Amino acid sequence: MYKHAIIRRPGKSSVRGLTSVDRGKPDFERLIEQHRHYTNTLSSLGLEVIELEALEEFPDACFTEDVAIVTPEVAVITRPGADSRRGETLHITDVLAKFRQLKYITEPGTIDGGDVLIIDQSCVKRHCIVGLSTRTNQSGAEQLCAILSEYGYQGDIVDLGADVPAALHFKSSVNFIDSHTLLVTQTCFWLDCLSAYRKLVVPEGEEYAANVVWINGKVLMPDGYPATQRLLEQNGFQTMVMPISEISKMDGGLTCLSLRLT
Ligand code: GLY
Repeated sequence: MYKHAIIRRPGKSSVRGLTSVDRGKPDFERLIEQHRHYTNTLSSLGLEVIELEALEEFPDACFTEDVAIVTPEVAVITRPGADSRRGETLHITDVLAKFRQLKYITEPGTIDGGDVLIIDQSCVKRHCIVGLSTRTNQSGAEQLCAILSEYGYQGDIVDLGADVPAALHFKSSVNFIDSHTLLVTQTCFWLDCLSAYRKLVVPEGEEYAANVVWINGKVLMPDGYPATQRLLEQNGFQTMVMPISEISKMDGGLTCLSLRLT
């Protein structure tokens, strides 16, 4: 179960952040509303939400998940792949140091937290899967796997190449929805490192909906993806549908918006 979430309020500069999608410019007021909705939802699910101040000099800083990888044992401060995001890491260390020992990814490694899926099956296996991307390179992935191997994590590095339709990061396409079940896009179904898990595949045309986040027994999912919602509900998962139109314009998703701590 998660106890804390670290989020960062979007600044006015957010509307000028990085994006590779062509969905128009985010509306700032609506963005703030959607961010508040997300924050309130985490609170309603029992998390203490730690809300950090907006950072106007870093337009993408509301995506707190990209600057650290947090497990129950350690917080690894990343070296984000986009130059404009690298300085964000200096603004997360103080708060994380209150909860975890800190370790760091160093040059030439680059890695975004959005490319890292940690599956903790407690007694069975701890698994860290890193997807190489435009943000995450081999060195960053190897450094992270080496650090987490000290804590008993099996590390796997996957290169999806040009195959991924969903969005920017690995977790745009794969997320856990309980300790042994994943929601995946079709392109990730056959990954060897996922073979031990039960998988639900998002219906064709709804690939963006793979970016869900499990929070204390509920699966938070983006609104507008009814076939995926049906699939989840029919398989016994309780969903909470979240409005994230403005966040999706920023190449963001439900996972990137928070750092969640057990
Ligand atoms: N806009 C989110 C990112 O590019 O990292």
